[in-house]
Amino acid sequence: MINIEKEISDHIFRSATFEGMADNKGFPSEDYLQLYKKLASNGVKNIITGFTYVSENGKAVHPGQAGIDSPEKVPYFRKITDAVHEYEARIYMQLAHAGRQTSERVTGHPVVGASNKRSSYFQSTPKELTASEAGDIINSFADSAFYAKNAGFDGVQLHAAHGYLIHQFIHPYINDRKDEYGIDPGTGIGDRFLRQTVEAVRSRCGQDYPVLVKISASDDLPVKFSENNFISLIKVLDELKVSSIEISFGTMENALNIFRGNSVPADAVLDYNFRYGTKSIIKRNITKFAIMLFLKKDLIQFSNTYNLKYAVTAKKHTHIPVISVGGFRNGHDIYGAITSGSCDHVSLCRPFICEPDFMIRLKNDPEYISECSNCNYCAVMCDSPFSTKCCKHK
Ligand SMILES: Cc1cc2nc3c(=O)[nH]c(=O)nc-3n(C[C@H](O)[C@H](O)[C@H](O)COP(=O)(O)O)c2cc1C
Repeated sequence: MINIEKEISDHIFRSATFEGMADNKGFPSEDYLQLYKKLASNGVKNIITGFTYVSENGKAVHPGQAGIDSPEKVPYFRKITDAVHEYEARIYMQLAHAGRQTSERVTGHPVVGASNKRSSYFQSTPKELTASEAGDIINSFADSAFYAKNAGFDGVQLHAAHGYLIHQFIHPYINDRKDEYGIDPGTGIGDRFLRQTVEAVRSRCGQDYPVLVKISASDDLPVKFSENNFISLIKVLDELKVSSIEISFGTMENALNIFRGNSVPADAVLDYNFRYGTKSIIKRNITKFAIMLFLKKDLIQFSNTYNLKYAVTAKKHTHIPVISVGGFRNGHDIYGAITSGSCDHVSLCRPFICEPDFMIRLKNDPEYISECSNCNYCAVMCDSPFSTKCCKHK
């Protein structure tokens, strides 16, 4: 019988999951503390926080996003790391800048990006950052990492996936800059911003401070990140010797394909979504029809371990620990992915929203199957004024 506790709990991460539990200045609330305490006390050994902004102009549209943009926040986050460490678990803070994936209408800050390519979902045309402004944001990442370190986080994870700013620099379809932050003709990707961010974090926090990186292996943009692009990115991360590479998919242009699911929770979308939410009955009916017709058409169906194939490719090009995220729902798949060497670690998001005690259930039954139904109500809740929750805990 598989001994989950002994053999693989160290290889399971709770992947970054937006909490919606901070005040409007980005300070974590009591609920934020209780969330992480609950996960750690229920046997999650590796926790990555939800994406945390590094500067005000990098805030996302989601209400209640946490921020780590000033030293004032250190004692507040320290309470969280202390609580998690009591259970001998590790906690990493995910650092992010939204770039073009936000809206001035919501944040009150002008939208900036790697280049001025419009985001069709957020309907914002960013101002292209100058090289000097890009340098300022790199410094913000470094400062934020330093605050996270002082707050007791075991490391930081740079959010270079899902179409956020670092990803915007990397992706040849989004980055059409002509300066040194543009696409390197040799590798076909824009890796300078990422490289400088990793280096800046290390020079501020020490060379040994763990820097994890989350990336998207591919996506559904009109011109996709190719397999060659992906391999180039893995080689860059290998050269940088980052602490681990978490491999996801997609951008927020079509967020549901990051998560996958079998349907769209249309009523929750109409209640809360930043783009489609409306109270008018007529608009709701029209939008519901449009959702069924257009949004569903572009949906990639959920399948178990749906990003694992990218981890397998990555492992051919690096010895850095690879974390696979996406569609891990049962002990069999988790154990199989790790023991077969397809990846070094797995990370899970929605099962921990549905069942914060998932690790206990897995320990009691190594074949345990999560009750998460991939309905994506939790994802839609990120746009609501309420904290992220499962449809089963409404
Ligand atoms: C409610 C919700 C919030 C999320 N928040 C983040 C986040 O803050 N940062 C991030 O990198 N990914 C975020 N994700 C993506 C997850 O980390 C993960 O990559 C994705 O959900 C696939 O894993 P799963 O199949 O185990 O849910 C979020 C996903 C959901 C559903």
